[in-house]
Amino acid sequence: MSNNLLQGKRGIITGALDENSIAWKVAEKAFEQGAKIVLTNAPIALRMGKINELAAKTNSKVIPADATNVEEINKMLIESQEFLGGKIDFLLHSIAQSPNIRKNIGYPELNYDYYDKTLDISALSLHKMLAAAYKLDAMSEGGSVVTLSYMAAQRTFSFYTDMADAKALLESIVRSFGYHYGKHRKVRVNSVSQSPTKTTAGSGIKGFNTFYDFAQLNAPLGNADAESCADYCITLFSDLTKMVTMQNLMHDGGYSNTGASSDLMDKFGEE
Ligand SMILES: NC(=O)c1ccc[n+]([C@@H]2O[C@H](COP(=O)([O-])OP(=O)(O)OC[C@H]3O[C@@H](n4cnc5c(N)ncnc54)[C@H](O)[C@@H]3O)[C@@H](O)[C@H]2O)c1
Repeated sequence: MSNNLLQGKRGIITGALDENSIAWKVAEKAFEQGAKIVLTNAPIALRMGKINELAAKTNSKVIPADATNVEEINKMLIESQEFLGGKIDFLLHSIAQSPNIRKNIGYPELNYDYYDKTLDISALSLHKMLAAAYKLDAMSEGGSVVTLSYMAAQRTFSFYTDMADAKALLESIVRSFGYHYGKHRKVRVNSVSQSPTKTTAGSGIKGFNTFYDFAQLNAPLGNADAESCADYCITLFSDLTKMVTMQNLMHDGGYSNTGASSDLMDKFGEE
């Protein structure tokens, strides 16, 4: 269903790897709502993923860029504006990776080279994209940037290790850059704090499936899926949310404000 919420808008969507990616759903919905889009991902992901399939479905162009490399980001932003025919109205930052999680290294034992990589890929990449766009004046006035976060930025989840620190930094960059970009060009910057979602990044976390089921029982609405996350992102790109900026917005079926649900109590209750 389309309400043409993004009619005439130009957008860049990072992080679509396969049809499970949150960014994949955002790209499909942005196209459905009338936007013209560019898809970007790390060169290695372009070789491994299915992004060309998505590009064909959404009449979009794929422009590679490693999100930790400022030169590649600059090039991608310039080429995107050429393809889209003007400044960018919205940008989805949907990028994360932790070599420590991938290698199953616990928080007290973190490898610091990996830790630097986690922060660079999962948090500084947002600063790098925002700074490059700011300096190139690549975003139009009233534009919108959305990144994806997780509640481990505020509360400890034992399995989330250094990604929790990356998300805390990411959310701080949302506030700090949101201030400067708002003053400079009325560009808004927000993070959506999403439920556990079955994607490549999500499922790479040890214990993910158990936690997914736990959260599903605790949240009154259940876990928010990738599709509803994409719907929320579309509203944030649209003109209906022009005064929302520098926020971390919970999109978790009510999980974050629930102590213990009756479903969980029943599961662990006495006979
Ligand atoms: N899946 C979940 O449970 C969940 C929950 C909350 C938040 N998030 C966040 O959502 C975002 C998207 O993740 P997803 O769950 O859709 O998984 P995903 O694995 O489909 O997406 C992660 C993307 O990051 C890209 N990426 C990694 N390194 C990169 C680099 N150097 N340069 C450019 N791109 C790079 C990958 O290629 C991939 O496309 C992430 O920020 C993730 O932390 C996910």
